[in-house]
Amino acid sequence: MRRAAWLLPLFTLALAHQATTYGEEGAGGNLTRVAVFTAVFLVVLFATAFLGLRQAKKKGGREILWAVFPTVVVAVVGAMVGAAIWSYKPVGGATLTLALEGQRYWWRIRYPESDLESAGEAWIPVGERIEVRATSRDIFYSLSVPGLELTMDAIPGQTTRAWVKAPKPGVYGGVETEYVGPATDKMRLRLLALPGEDYRRLIEAAKSFTPPEPPKVFLERCAACHRIRDTEARGTLGPDLTLFALRTTFGSGVWPNRAEFLAPWIRNAPGLKPGVKMPAFPDLSEEELKTLLDYLKSLGPSGFDFTELIRVEE
Ligand code: HEC
Repeated sequence: MRRAAWLLPLFTLALAHQATTYGEEGAGGNLTRVAVFTAVFLVVLFATAFLGLRQAKKKGGREILWAVFPTVVVAVVGAMVGAAIWSYKPVGGATLTLALEGQRYWWRIRYPESDLESAGEAWIPVGERIEVRATSRDIFYSLSVPGLELTMDAIPGQTTRAWVKAPKPGVYGGVETEYVGPATDKMRLRLLALPGEDYRRLIEAAKSFTPPEPPKVFLERCAACHRIRDTEARGTLGPDLTLFALRTTFGSGVWPNRAEFLAPWIRNAPGLKPGVKMPAFPDLSEEELKTLLDYLKSLGPSGFDFTELIRVEE
C-alpha cells in the first residue's frame, strides 16, 4: 500500500499542470480536463484512505482520526469544486462583440457585426452587455480596464473572452499591465461609452461613410501599412484609418488627435514611441505634410465630437 502512495503527489502535479495549461480549445476544454483529473485524483485519494483505515483498524487505536479528518475535508472541498465546475457557463446575452487584437504597441479593434474597424479607441453603448474577445498578432499582452472591472490576456493563436457593461456614459481607460517593451506605457485603450441611441446613430453613420480618395502622397508613403476602406490603401501592418477623424486620440489612446501632435508623429513616430513599426518621414515637404493632415481630418462622418466626454474614474 505504502508503495502506491507516490501516486498522490504525481496526480497533484498532473492536476496543477492541467489546471494551468490552455489547450487549443481554450478555457472551456481546460475545465473538462481539470474535471477528469480531479475525479481520478479523488478516486486514488479515497482508495488510499480506505486502505489506510483498514490497516489502522487491524492495529486498533486512535490513528484513525488522522485519516478520517482530511478525507472529510477533501470530500467537502471536492464537492464544492465539482458543483462550481458543472454550474459554469459563459455569460451570454451580449448585444455586440468587440474584437481586440494586440500588437506592437497598439490595439486593433474590430466590430464583427458591423464590419467596422478602429484602433486604440472604440465606442460602446452604455448599460448593454458586450462581449470582448482578445487575441494577439505577436506576443502576450495583458489588458486592464479598471472602470469596467475587466482584466484579460491577449494570447497569440487563441481567443480569450470576457463580458463587460459600462454603467454610465464616459471614457473608460485601459492600460497594458505586463511589460512588453519600451513603449508598454503607450499601449492604452479608451472605450467611449455613449447612450444607446447615440451609439447606434454613430455606427450607422460610420457604416455608410464613404472615405474620400487618398492623395498621391498617402498612396505612395502610407498605403502600404494603412487601410482606407473602399480605396487602394489596403495595408494591414498599421491601424485602419477609415474612421480616423472620429478618434479623440491616436497612437493607442496616447496623444490628442490634433494637428500639433499629429505632425510630429508623422515626421518621427519612432521618436515618440520607441519600437513602433511606423518609420519616420523626415523628408516630407511642409506641403505634403499639410495634405496628409487635411486628409486625416476628413476621415469619418461629420457631426460627431467626443472630445468633451468625461473620463470615468473608478
Ligand atoms: C511600415 C508601416 C507604416 C507606414 C509606411 C506608415 N505607418 Fe502609420 N502607423 C503604423 C503603425 C504600426 C502604427 C501604430 C502605431 C502605434 O499606435 O503604436 C501607425 C499609426 C499611425 C497613426 C495613428 C493611428 C491611430 O489610430 O492611432 C497615424 C495617423 C499614421 N500612422 C499615419 C501615417 C501616415 C500619414 C503615413 C504616411 C506618411 C504612415 N502612417 C505610414 C505603420 C506605418
